[in-house]
Amino acid sequence: MVVNETDMKDFIYYAPTEVVFGKCSEEQVASLVKKYGGHKVLVHYGGGSAVRSGLLDKICGILKEGGIEAVLLGGVVPNPRLSKVHEGIELCRREGVDFILSIGGGSVIDSAKAIACGVLYEGEVWDFYEGKADAAAYLPMGCVLTIPAAGSEMSDSSVITNEDGDIKTGYSNNLSRQKFAIMNPERTYTLPPYQTAAGVTDIMMHTMERYFSHDDDMTLTDAVAEALLCTMKDSIFTVLKDPRNYRARAQIMWGGSIAHNDLTGCGTTGDWATHQLEHELSAMFDATHGAGLAAIWPSWARYVYRENVGRFVRFAVNVMGIRNDYTDPEGTALKGIEAMERFYHAIGMPTSIQELIGKDITEAEIEEMVEKCTHGYTCTQGRFKVLSADDIRRIYLMAAGLM
Ligand code: NZQ
Ligand code: ZN
Repeated sequence: MVVNETDMKDFIYYAPTEVVFGKCSEEQVASLVKKYGGHKVLVHYGGGSAVRSGLLDKICGILKEGGIEAVLLGGVVPNPRLSKVHEGIELCRREGVDFILSIGGGSVIDSAKAIACGVLYEGEVWDFYEGKADAAAYLPMGCVLTIPAAGSEMSDSSVITNEDGDIKTGYSNNLSRQKFAIMNPERTYTLPPYQTAAGVTDIMMHTMERYFSHDDDMTLTDAVAEALLCTMKDSIFTVLKDPRNYRARAQIMWGGSIAHNDLTGCGTTGDWATHQLEHELSAMFDATHGAGLAAIWPSWARYVYRENVGRFVRFAVNVMGIRNDYTDPEGTALKGIEAMERFYHAIGMPTSIQELIGKDITEAEIEEMVEKCTHGYTCTQGRFKVLSADDIRRIYLMAAGLM
């Protein structure tokens, strides 16, 4: 076997979820649950949007008509909590549930994923999130997506917050992939502008985490990533002006899934530092995940761009529409970062921690985040530039305007 350094990196692409996309797609829910073996379903949902829109009632009606029994568990909050997962595990066991159907976004689907493995595990489900055990089995799951953002409908991961210590952490397992994801863009018309913009920020960041890489020969993957980023950039302005624009809502909805089902990661080494740093922010301040990413990324980018200026130039030119000044690559790279900051502000996203949480953050709070992000100063984060605790502290300080 001849391996050239410039060859595309080997990869496995695994995206087994059946996507049912389009108007009225939720009407297929009963046949899809049956197709994947569900007889008694836990219908899991959030704080009320699915109730207010009538979607919950509609789904329950369709399940009933299809002869499928339903047990309801609502109340999942953004940054979903471990206590709700425990409640779900207990309920599923008591009721003999054999399928979990989520109605909502990343928070509900992630909570469902944790319940689905917790039900079949004799120990404490948090073991998986602490890396003490690996889940060998999950109840089958499907979802009706109502917010394009986290990409959990096609991803292998879930992120749960343990209220005991405000620890927010993720767990990845291919067995947690949804059997089906129903996506009707019309169901996203009711999203408030802030959630819409935070969702698009997350979608773009899932692509950018994979795009900022030192790997070679990922021509096709780069082209897909850039097309996705440009499409999200255009579509968000359309939906902020016209929330019921089906075309733009549909672009964003599908973009959310392919941004995190690994299509934009084929042949690249993901970075994920911005995500890791953000998780501490949303754990400590209960911030919206996408908005937290916007508050961190510009500082991360300014801190790391010299590791591969060419990559940042390419982003500036192909995504942010900056003219390439061949005599000044660093200048072009920095203009791309500034343009991204202007974009975040234009869609109502913060670009600093103060803007995100609405107050100053203390150095002690920053140190607590550094400690958690490095698991007690024992690990690094990121791959574009491997970040030590000291690097992470500096990025937080920059994002807080303290450096
Ligand atoms: O709870 P309800 O009332 O439904 O309101 C929700 C919630 O307040 C609202 N909403 C959802 N659909 C709506 C709607 N409001 C009006 N109309 C609709 N159609 O939106 C708010 C946010 O919902 P949430 O599910 O929290 O959003 P998102 O999908 O952004 O999920 C965020 C969570 O996912 C995690 C994040 O860390 C965060 O905890 N992530 C999960 C990932 C994964 N599993 O692969 C990857 C991501 O990087 C991310 O970390
Ligand atoms: Zn994310």
